[in-house]
Amino acid sequence: MPRTGGGEVAPDGSPVPVYLAIPAERGFGPVLDHLAAGASVLDLGCGVGRLANALAARGHEVVGVDESQGMLAHLDDAVAAVEASIEELRLGRRFDAVVLASHLVNVADPVQRRAFLDAVARHLAVEGTAYIEHWSPDVIGGLADGDGPIGDVMVRFRVLAQRGRVFDASVTYELDGRAWTQAFTAELLDETQLDTELAAAGLRRRRRLDPKWLAARMG
Ligand SMILES: C[S@@+](CC[C@H](N)C(=O)[O-])C[C@H]1O[C@@H](n2cnc3c(N)ncnc32)[C@H](O)[C@@H]1O
Repeated sequence: MPRTGGGEVAPDGSPVPVYLAIPAERGFGPVLDHLAAGASVLDLGCGVGRLANALAARGHEVVGVDESQGMLAHLDDAVAAVEASIEELRLGRRFDAVVLASHLVNVADPVQRRAFLDAVARHLAVEGTAYIEHWSPDVIGGLADGDGPIGDVMVRFRVLAQRGRVFDASVTYELDGRAWTQAFTAELLDETQLDTELAAAGLRRRRRLDPKWLAARMG
């Protein structure tokens, strides 16, 4: 039986040791492939820098934003770390690319979702690209329970309740004999709803990069 957790946990329940153990760059392939060389990047909810550190190593100017100091402590020196809530963020500048990863856009609270997308739009250059990772009803495919490894981390996903497209779930991460459980509520977003929500924030779909990632721009 794994011991309970340990190490720092972000306010949203994300365990820092787990994100340090998940391979850097994993899941970010579509962004890395699409991003223009030399683009300045704002990584919203950057965690320990799985993307931000990789981008800085490739020569991008990167600002990483997270509400967890425990996460930000693992950013490389080349990444500018900003401890802030995404909703409140006002950096007073715009970036060639803004990343909203980790399905943050699927938050069930429509006010918070709008605040996330407003933060993206507020910091995106006129010709810039926003990269948004989301769950659509297709991707999550029936919302099944499932277990599987991500690197050295065993991930156990459980659907606790479902109300239409809104669901309560828990994810248990096991690593080195320790376990952390993170519970959350999320809303699946289909293409039409996502486009409507993007438009409300002054954004519009540019292209779909894969089933989870879409690129958007101002307008
Ligand atoms: C699931 S982790 C993923 C981190 C990183 N994007 C990755 O893929 O490795 C989500 C991160 O978003 C941060 N986060 C969640 N909600 C936030 C908010 N409202 N403002 C700032 N950071 C937030 C958490 O602290 C956590 O580090």
